[in-house]
Amino acid sequence: MDMQEMERILRETGLIPVVTVKDPATAVPLAQTLAAAGIRVMEITFRTGAAEDAIYAVSTQVPDLLVLAGTVVTVDQAKAAAATGADGIVTPGLDPEIVSWCQENGMPVFPGCATATEVQAAQKLGLHCVKLFPAQILGGTAMLKALHGPFGEMQFIPTGGIGPETLKGYLSLPYVLCCGGSWLCPDSAVEAGDFAAISQRTQAAMALVRRLRP
Ligand code: 3PG
Repeated sequence: MDMQEMERILRETGLIPVVTVKDPATAVPLAQTLAAAGIRVMEITFRTGAAEDAIYAVSTQVPDLLVLAGTVVTVDQAKAAAATGADGIVTPGLDPEIVSWCQENGMPVFPGCATATEVQAAQKLGLHCVKLFPAQILGGTAMLKALHGPFGEMQFIPTGGIGPETLKGYLSLPYVLCCGGSWLCPDSAVEAGDFAAISQRTQAAMALVRRLRP
């Protein structure tokens, strides 16, 4: 998938649920729960050994949903993610080696940036959309407004510490492509298979997205 199409879907969905899966069997019902709420994307982190199986299961069994591989910190993980069917890569920090591999292999990549220096470096690598991480700790919307001054063409995916109370402020900024976070699918709900709780959270968040981005 090219970056333009990926960005169009991310803007439309407004949210990236970040999920850490311990049991790959939970990945498909979780993905179906998200898709039923109108979400078009999920991020499965490489924080457990289940990540590759979970990405493969979702990409083959829930084709309507884009799967991003998250917490990718090595080129080998990016390669593994691509091999299992991931549609894009999210990294917590800016690693030029991972960015270059993704660019050379047509894989959309969203590296985390926490400073103006890192956003500038990402821009130099040819990127025009980065993750702002950890968004809340960095100052939230105030930090984004400050970065938007010098980096007027840059789109951001704020992630880290976002919840229902702060979502609206982020999504109201036109240079916020979408917001990432684990609040939609908390580990406890994923582990308990509590898809009703996940459905309730995602539907509430999607209702806000639709109000703000009709
Ligand atoms: C991530 O990897 O993007 C973060 O863990 C998500 O942050 P959150 O858990 O604070 O939402």
